[in-house]
Amino acid sequence: MSRPKVFVTRPGVPQEAIDMLKEKCEVEIYSEDKPVERDALLKGIQGKDALFCLLTDTIDKAVIEAAGPQLKAIATMSVGYDHIDTKECKARNIPVSNTPDVSTDSVAELTVTLLLAAGRRLIDAAAAIKKGEWVYSWSPVWLCGQGLTGATVGIVGMGRIGQGVMRRILPFGVSKVLYFDVFHPIKPAEEMGAEYVEFEELAKRSDFIVAMCNLSEETRNLFNKKAFDLMKPTAVFVNTSRGGVVNQEDLYDALKNKKIRAAGLDVMVPEPLPKDHPLTTLDNIILTPHVGSAEMSVRVNMAKLAAENILAVLDGKPMVSPVPLG
Ligand code: DGY
Repeated sequence: MSRPKVFVTRPGVPQEAIDMLKEKCEVEIYSEDKPVERDALLKGIQGKDALFCLLTDTIDKAVIEAAGPQLKAIATMSVGYDHIDTKECKARNIPVSNTPDVSTDSVAELTVTLLLAAGRRLIDAAAAIKKGEWVYSWSPVWLCGQGLTGATVGIVGMGRIGQGVMRRILPFGVSKVLYFDVFHPIKPAEEMGAEYVEFEELAKRSDFIVAMCNLSEETRNLFNKKAFDLMKPTAVFVNTSRGGVVNQEDLYDALKNKKIRAAGLDVMVPEPLPKDHPLTTLDNIILTPHVGSAEMSVRVNMAKLAAENILAVLDGKPMVSPVPLG
């Protein structure tokens, strides 16, 4: 009997996952170490039983159609799945999986790192020496920022990662955690002391605002001029979810005109962000290149979970971590 065929869209996927797939399947891997070209994706998926993809791959109707009727599973090596047309998958009864849990701690840690680094001006401070700006050994208010102690932190999107962020900031002595989420109440967060408030109230009351929501039609550009205008002039905004939830022109204006104090972004539009993008000209922003889950052990576990999902379906079983379709 012929073995099922899997298309993997990038050669850099951790070998552990490729080995798992190779035990049971014929595996074709895109040859170039960059996001798969559209034509190569349309060709590569043809006749495959499963697709192992990344968040850099747009899996729309044309791609799903190009696969042919035998396509049985799509597994993305990411938590976010906004790059996959899940409505089309639902219509064709093709299950889709993501990689929740395995990267939660890692993304939550990076988020807290950005909160502290942006709040306490860490990058500015470190650069000051190299730029020759450290003139007096100590000055009363030079490079002053604001840390988490006593702060009100607003988390928009209180899923697993939002809760992970909350768990990590409580020991810093934050005075209050507010949250906004379409699903509420969220019991584990409320048990830790989080208070549910409407989005506008969260924007107004928080010293630190953290975007942790999925990108959807409801959340696209949620952080726009109206939201930044509501924030305190001392507010620090951090986004480690998806760039599309922020209107970047409005964020630029808010930072440039000191309507808010600082920001830390791990996700942007577009990715990669061009090095001459207006955001890169600001002193009060920290930009990192989508490295929320960038730890080798985490990436290995993400890849293995994606492979496990594919193997489950090919074995006639349900996916281990399916996403809701539609
Ligand atoms: C995810 O898993 O969706 C992250 O954005 C990758 O770091």
